[in-house]
Amino acid sequence: MAAKHNDLVFSGVQPTGNLHLGNYLGAIVNFVKLQETHSCIYCVVDLHAITMPPSVWGGPEELARSTREVTAAFIAAGIDPKKNIIFNQSQVAGHAELTWVFNCVARIGWLNRMTQFKEKAGKDRENASVGLYDYPVLMASDILVYRATHVPVGEDQKQHLELTRDIAQKFNNDFAESIAARGYGEGFFPLPEPVITGPATRVMSLRDGTKKMSKSDASDYSRINLTDDADTIAQKVRKAKTDPEPLPSEEPGLAQRPEADNLVGIYAALAGKPKANVLAEFGGAQFSQFKSNLVDLAVTRLAPIAGEMKRLTQDPGYVDSVLIDGAARANVIASETMSAVKDIVGFIHKR
Ligand code: TRP
Repeated sequence: MAAKHNDLVFSGVQPTGNLHLGNYLGAIVNFVKLQETHSCIYCVVDLHAITMPPSVWGGPEELARSTREVTAAFIAAGIDPKKNIIFNQSQVAGHAELTWVFNCVARIGWLNRMTQFKEKAGKDRENASVGLYDYPVLMASDILVYRATHVPVGEDQKQHLELTRDIAQKFNNDFAESIAARGYGEGFFPLPEPVITGPATRVMSLRDGTKKMSKSDASDYSRINLTDDADTIAQKVRKAKTDPEPLPSEEPGLAQRPEADNLVGIYAALAGKPKANVLAEFGGAQFSQFKSNLVDLAVTRLAPIAGEMKRLTQDPGYVDSVLIDGAARANVIASETMSAVKDIVGFIHKR
């Protein structure tokens, strides 16, 4: 009999650089929605952040600042830190501990296939950190140390989630006898599934509709930061690149018009309705008219979040207390899993 796993959501966001509209619409909005139906654990993955050189993540002050900013964004966007768990990864030792066990379960051949490592390591692979190579195993541990069943992730993380399932399955197989003998039931680890809620929103640069909105783009006009105030949001939307045609009234009309497609997609995601409905409303309109509607919508939805983030950032004591309280509650679950893993593997430990 496979063990019955209760539904539990886990996801992580890296504290590297400023959060923008892409992070919000692509991830955080779904996190907020999932708390209505699931128990959720949302983690600021600081251990993952340091897999790149300090020059990339900005050093200790910047790591701490960014960890608090992501936490503030979670809270400002509407995630309730009492009903759910919000914490930073490095506070719960189980993540790193389970990673070691999983390092001995995962195969080098599996990691060699990870496309994100190839992209992030670039040409000089010999010079990449061992941590960057092991990044996917740490991610598997994040999820499985809570035996989480559902993981909201973007398209780019699906391969890592498949690896997570492979590791869970191999652990369950390698230790099947021990798991059964100790009464943990078959399938000690669940095989977690990706969750895609609503239309997977890929937010593109406001200057080039073929490039993803990114924190590392040189132009600040390419993105809307979650901390931008109303005037800045309005300015960036008005300056966003468009083409000279009016808006089409149906979706096929957006093909080969990446900037138009992106702005309609942003409007749809912020309004919480399908792109088709947005086009039904604005088809035939000029961009100047559409943009002023988009400015109103973006300011209404985003400016309060920016305001709340600003308020929270000025109260680091409160933000830290959320992370410390969350870590204590996360640790209860993680310790239970680690105790079972130690039994299963044969490590002597205090019960
Ligand atoms: N790798 C994820 C990203 O870059 C972040 C992450 C770390 C994560 N651990 C996780 C996401 C566990 C989901 C579950 O987006």
